[in-house]
Amino acid sequence: MGTFLYLILFQILLSLLVCFDSSQSTFDRQTYREHLLSSSQRDKDWLITIRRQIHENPELRFEEHNTSALIRSELDKLAISYTYPLAKTGIVAQIGSGSPPVVALRADMDALPLQELVEWEHKSKVDGKMHGCGHDAHTTMLLGAAKLLNERKHLLKGTVRLLFQPAEEGGAGASHMIKDGALGDAEAIFGMHVNYKIPTGTIASLSGPVFAAASRFHVKIEGKGGHAAVPHNAVDPLLAASFAILALQQLISRELDPLQSQVLSITYVRGGTTLNVIPPYFEFGGTLRSLTTESLHQLQRRLKEVVEGQAAVHRCHAHVDMYEKEDVPLYPATVNDEKLNLHVERVSRLLFNPENFKMGQKVMAAEDFSFYQEVIPGVMLDIGIRNENVGAIHSLHSPYFFLDEDVLSIGASLHTALAEIYLNEHQQSAAQ
Ligand code: NI
Repeated sequence: MGTFLYLILFQILLSLLVCFDSSQSTFDRQTYREHLLSSSQRDKDWLITIRRQIHENPELRFEEHNTSALIRSELDKLAISYTYPLAKTGIVAQIGSGSPPVVALRADMDALPLQELVEWEHKSKVDGKMHGCGHDAHTTMLLGAAKLLNERKHLLKGTVRLLFQPAEEGGAGASHMIKDGALGDAEAIFGMHVNYKIPTGTIASLSGPVFAAASRFHVKIEGKGGHAAVPHNAVDPLLAASFAILALQQLISRELDPLQSQVLSITYVRGGTTLNVIPPYFEFGGTLRSLTTESLHQLQRRLKEVVEGQAAVHRCHAHVDMYEKEDVPLYPATVNDEKLNLHVERVSRLLFNPENFKMGQKVMAAEDFSFYQEVIPGVMLDIGIRNENVGAIHSLHSPYFFLDEDVLSIGASLHTALAEIYLNEHQQSAAQ
């Protein structure tokens, strides 16, 4: 009987301990969430001012000198140390203990060669240049995270590296950042892109391939020019090009597994100047996309074979240029790590309401974040900006693109939580 009583008492004590422990951790999570969200809300006006400054003064790839100077001056004010320059205008700030684990956060800084058509107080001041892809918001959100992380640096169980990179738009800025040592000892990396299809406050991500590997191509077919009235004395490159363009369409419809995804788009044709002359050469080009880097290489090989073959059939000669240069390599596919994607999902649900996290969607656009993922695992996630009330309904790269600035504090707090909770959860493995 005595043993039975002790057993009951022990059980009660145990359940009390469990209750205490779980209420403690719930309490901690709640406090953490409230603290982070209120801190980022407090910074809202500052974030909006920074973002508008960047938006008014857009700079194209590798020319982000003023944007970079603005970020550095804010980092100086916050007394955050950084390395500069990397990849011409890039910055890497570092916050925390300086010891492992090390986690990286990334933002891109470049604008687009696009004329802004939105009439508002903070419209782009530079003709023909616009932040039409939201990189002004990305940069601002990461700066916001730098401020929040710096306020919490005594709590960080490791190190956060914040990468402000140039030239995401067609310049492969990420590959240059890596060459210049931006990743350091980072073991994981997170990046986010604004998404006009999902409402502000919603986060979406997906594991596996999310953005395509992409490359461009340019073809020049040479024949022999002549009078159009005597075609037998000429070698018609236009006809060869026409056959080649049609034959290329069959690479996707006849050679690709229907369950896989690839795109081959011819986006221009060029040649000839008048109605009665067969031109000596004819040009066309476009883009290739695939959800795996390997299958993009295969598609490139086949494109070359088909174009050269069609040119030969028509007694012409083809030059195929894939634009693959050392300074602008082919963009690999963006493939999100499964475990880190679960981390993104858990942190998003913890920081916001659980229903604010959604499964992301694959797109055939390309993103140079993939270069980092070739070195370390990472996740590129979507952060919603859709808000009909402010007109944030236009697609990326549209001259009417408009941002819901409420995203700025949301993104700053999410970046912070992704890094801080990652370090908390990985400190033990680093210590072993
Ligand atoms: Ni972009």
